[in-house]
Amino acid sequence: MLLQVQAVTKTFGQKTAVDKVSFEIARPAMIGIIGRSGAGKSTFLRMLNRLTDATGGAVLFEGRDVLGLRGGELRAWQSQCAMIFQQFNLVPRMDVTSNVLHGTLNRRSTLSTLFNIYPEADILKAVEILDRLGIAEQAPKRAEALSGGQQQRVAIARALMQDPKIILADEPIASLDPMNAQIVMDALRRIHEEDGRMVIANLHTLDTARRYCDRVIGMRGGRIVFDGSPDQLTTGAARDIYGADASFSEAATSTSIEALDETYAREMLA
Ligand SMILES: Nc1ncnc2c1ncn2[C@@H]1O[C@H](COP(=O)(O)OP(=O)(O)OP(=O)(O)O)[C@@H](O)[C@H]1O
Ligand SMILES: [Mg+2]
Repeated sequence: MLLQVQAVTKTFGQKTAVDKVSFEIARPAMIGIIGRSGAGKSTFLRMLNRLTDATGGAVLFEGRDVLGLRGGELRAWQSQCAMIFQQFNLVPRMDVTSNVLHGTLNRRSTLSTLFNIYPEADILKAVEILDRLGIAEQAPKRAEALSGGQQQRVAIARALMQDPKIILADEPIASLDPMNAQIVMDALRRIHEEDGRMVIANLHTLDTARRYCDRVIGMRGGRIVFDGSPDQLTTGAARDIYGADASFSEAATSTSIEALDETYAREMLA
């Protein structure tokens, strides 16, 4: 078993944000986690990467519990599961190549970081990755001069610099227009297929999860309420995930998941 998540729990005071979440992944896959705002998706991803400590449970990667790792072993784990965020988290005034080279930071000395000295092999690798993502010509520009979709591809390039086994993406397309959203999701899918890296992405639309993922996990109130393939994601299952308030049952009468999805999106924007 590649990844085993066992009763992972996170409480903030009285509030249980993630409630005994358990699932297993046998081989690298592209997995979408969906659910409404507050369902616990971000908290869960952050625990996997150890940005947040879990309150309870275990996460075994290749049989080894990663929740207890400390020091150098913890840093090694964090570079094996690179994280991508909705807001890209680039250094805006720094050029694209330097942003990508930041992905090598945890294996470089403080001194070389301080003076921005990168080995030539790393620079060549950075440019090669940018080229693969179709943005090599942006390399000398400042990150802030790029479009959102280009910036997210720079963030993906920075993640790839770490040569991660897992890419964790927290709402990677939530700030992008539909065309850029598609470019970014295509890139993640291609990285999964060509490199065999596992991708776990929090997504808030059903449609994206169904189109790109091999497996979809639905969360509600901190718990898993759905775990299956995209074609098992029926309107009924979607209602379990997103809730069955008035507007949803209205949408459900159309029996179209897309309609339900749209209603949900409209509610979120309202
Ligand atoms: N640092 C924190 N302190 C207290 N409560 C928190 C903290 N972080 C998250 N929570 C709570 O935990 C629950 C889950 O939050 P989380 O951000 O994981 O949800 P989410 O599914 O990612 O939502 P969204 O779709 O809005 O990003 C929410 O009720 C949230 O208010
Ligand atoms: Mg979130």
